[in-house]
Amino acid sequence: MKLVKGIGLGTFPFANPFTSVDERMAEKIVGTFLDLGGMFIDTSPTYGSGYVEELLGKILKKYGRSTYFLNTSCGYIQTKEGRRISGKYQDVVDNCNKSLKRLGLDYIDLYISHIPDSSTSFSETVQALEALMKQGKIRQIGVSNVSLNQLKEYNATGSIKFVHNRFSLLNHSFDKTFTDYCIKHDVAIVSYQVIERGLLTSKIVNGLTLKSTDLRNRKPEFTPNIVQDISIWVRDYLQPVSDRLNMPLSAIAIWWALKQPAVALCSIGATQVSQVRENFCALSIEESKCLLESLDRAYLELETTIKNRTSLSIREFLTN
Ligand SMILES: NC(=O)c1ccc[n+]([C@@H]2O[C@H](COP(=O)([O-])OP(=O)(O)OC[C@H]3O[C@@H](n4cnc5c(N)ncnc54)[C@H](OP(=O)(O)O)[C@@H]3O)[C@@H](O)[C@H]2O)c1
Repeated sequence: MKLVKGIGLGTFPFANPFTSVDERMAEKIVGTFLDLGGMFIDTSPTYGSGYVEELLGKILKKYGRSTYFLNTSCGYIQTKEGRRISGKYQDVVDNCNKSLKRLGLDYIDLYISHIPDSSTSFSETVQALEALMKQGKIRQIGVSNVSLNQLKEYNATGSIKFVHNRFSLLNHSFDKTFTDYCIKHDVAIVSYQVIERGLLTSKIVNGLTLKSTDLRNRKPEFTPNIVQDISIWVRDYLQPVSDRLNMPLSAIAIWWALKQPAVALCSIGATQVSQVRENFCALSIEESKCLLESLDRAYLELETTIKNRTSLSIREFLTN
């Protein structure tokens, strides 16, 4: 596989949960991402209930099939009552066929189970994914939002090659036992929300303003007192690093994530072309043990501050 450690394009923002992205802007973002050497495009039928897959289908027609690596997911089904989780065999197969149609593709490079379905045996979901792979409809199998035990269960036959989990300099959501398993079993980690939807970017230092419809208004980590604490930490610990290296804050957060064991890719969303360019700067930051240590120390400082003030871990603090 041609994929190397790098930056993927997350396309959730094309469903307009954050700053609006129209079709022309989405096209420019994808074009810039591919021009910069990116390949991994991360989508899901849940983004705009199929709208984003259809949009990508139109945009990607202009590009050779080997110039991008498309990832989409199964795991949710749309019913009259709303969306529900399903990893059932037939639902996985139906989801895949619908995604292929919306994307206008013959095959999906990486097909992932978006979320574990506790009412279906994981082996049933994996059997459906393996059958799709045999038929040539998908090339690789992955899972998302899993604990280590869930990953082990999904990977009983050794067919899981990627795991997508939320992970960032602020949110250390998996530990060494998780990465050790991934390394041993050749499972590549795709981290998402690596820049914490703007909390680990210059936006937080310059003052975050969100329109009333922005999804982030409903997220615990975006409550004003948390944003304030994070912005002080970013200003005191990350901004000096950004200034010294003359690199955007977002690039530093992405660089840190890519340095973590087993993390092969970071899936990063964007609403503007300039953001894609800034985020790619992560790949120009030179290897430095010192930098890694100073970012790890910065995390420990935040952990201690929050523990002393609230008795909570950073993760508890962000989600309380
Ligand atoms: N598997 C799963 O369950 C799952 C769940 C969530 C996400 N994902 C995937 O992971 C991808 C990444 O997550 P995400 O898009 O939710 O969040 P993210 O990558 O942490 O943040 C993306 C948002 O941050 C802002 N941004 C990006 N670059 C910036 C920069 N250089 N400077 C300042 N602001 C910047 C943009 O929003 P504004 O311009 O509006 O501020 C952008 O839409 C998603 O797009 C999706 O493909 C997967």
